Amino acid sequence: FNIPKPVNEPVLNYGPRSVERAALKAALQEGRAQQIDIPMYIGGQEVRTGKTGTVRPPHDHQHVLATYHIGDESHVHAAINAALAAKANWEALAWEERAAIFLKAADLLSGPYRAKINAATMLGQSKNAYQAEIDAACEMVDFLRFNVSYMAEIYAQQPPVSPKGIWNRVEQRPLEGFVFAITPFNFTAIAGNLPASAAMMGNVVVWKPNDTQVYAANVLMQVFIEAGVPAGVINLIYVDGPMAGDIIFSHPDFAGVHFTGSTPVFQNIWKTIGTNIHKYKTYPRIVGETGGKDFVLAHPSANVEVATTALVRGAFEYQGQKCSAASRAYLPKSLWPAIKTGLLNDLGELKMGPVEDFENFVNAVIDEKSFDKLARYIDQAHQNSAVEVIAGGKYDKSKGWFIEPTVLVTTDPQYVTMREELFGPVLTIYVYEDADFDKVLNLIDQTSIYALTGCIIAQDRYAIAQASHALRNAAGNFYVNDKPTGAVVGQQPFGGARGSGTNDKAGSMINLLRWVSPRTIKETF
Ligand code: SER
Repeated sequence: FNIPKPVNEPVLNYGPRSVERAALKAALQEGRAQQIDIPMYIGGQEVRTGKTGTVRPPHDHQHVLATYHIGDESHVHAAINAALAAKANWEALAWEERAAIFLKAADLLSGPYRAKINAATMLGQSKNAYQAEIDAACEMVDFLRFNVSYMAEIYAQQPPVSPKGIWNRVEQRPLEGFVFAITPFNFTAIAGNLPASAAMMGNVVVWKPNDTQVYAANVLMQVFIEAGVPAGVINLIYVDGPMAGDIIFSHPDFAGVHFTGSTPVFQNIWKTIGTNIHKYKTYPRIVGETGGKDFVLAHPSANVEVATTALVRGAFEYQGQKCSAASRAYLPKSLWPAIKTGLLNDLGELKMGPVEDFENFVNAVIDEKSFDKLARYIDQAHQNSAVEVIAGGKYDKSKGWFIEPTVLVTTDPQYVTMREELFGPVLTIYVYEDADFDKVLNLIDQTSIYALTGCIIAQDRYAIAQASHALRNAAGNFYVNDKPTGAVVGQQPFGGARGSGTNDKAGSMINLLRWVSPRTIKETF
């Protein structure tokens, strides 16, 4: 098949005098100077309702970047109807034509839209330039190109055996109905991938991004349109989640949900689908990536530098708001003094502030709700005798939602921040006796309600093998001598089980296969 074998999109470095930095700075300035008006997109039409919300940079909450139009029940129905109306033509198109559209979208994001999508991600989600580049540019482009190649492989699968006089074949048909994509704030690439991967396989989509994702979602939609996604194939709506859920999850043509977000929301969706199961034409696909409580485990044989880097980058890049972020660590007593020194040194050098200053490694958390929640956990830690706050511990919301990178050390391995997902720049460390390594493996497995990512830092091969086996169900993405974040599409398929989701590995053939409903045809001559 004629699909170029993808190569991962190179990460540009945005050095002080680089062309890419100049372009990005210009896009940031343009973004701040304009106050754009963002419509919904239903059936190829821009829809403005007059009922609007505002988009503000999390690091500068008094500045209005954009207004966006909010829909009601009628817009949810309109989006479903537009999707269903587009379905026959879209699924009749040859897969190569669909591939061409998404490959073009990848080229647009890699080239002419790169600065714009990165600037939108920086301003709307408070990601620094590097974090935006590896997400909105590289990961998004990789999702599109690799998924097109997996799609081509799916359609090129070996046909079944056909004895003489019989022709057996399997058609990979799209689902019967529409797919609902519900996307999170923390990755622009996930926001784009959830509707795109289902659409690529011939499905029609209703897409509802998180309220704090509107700004970059709007750019993604413009790219999809410019790349040639036909009217009605992807319909982008800004609506109340529970209201949209009531309509969509009781619709007879609901055929699947592609979700990334919180565990409680996903569990509610699952229950609602169960309650309504008799209403659907077909059993819907339920694909979700949800919470995480991701760990860093160091063995007494660990390289101290590697462990320290895993902690700093794993816990504090993008303010700890990656679902893969390290939020609990188990470190051996013998190495703790050296790791602590390294950690405090590194944290002392991290600058915090708005994204427009490229020196700032730490930016703001996404919104006031998240800020308040994190502040509560930090206050509790200050007051608890089983916890020592060794770094950070302060917060300030006067200009933006800023929380200092905070490190807690606890003597209680069941302490609340060792168990609950905080989704912010707070790392909790438990120091264990070197001789208790086996017990710590047990402890991690037993406290892993979620199972998204985790890592072991060790030089002892037996310890690596032991941890890998003992923690086989505790992390869908397990890293050896590296931080638990930063899965690269095409290299480390991403996803977890337990409370972290259905483990359908984003950016893989497993995920794409969820969006087809095969038909077997036997023909007798
Ligand atoms: N894929 C991202 C990572 O690995 C998380 O969604 O960090």
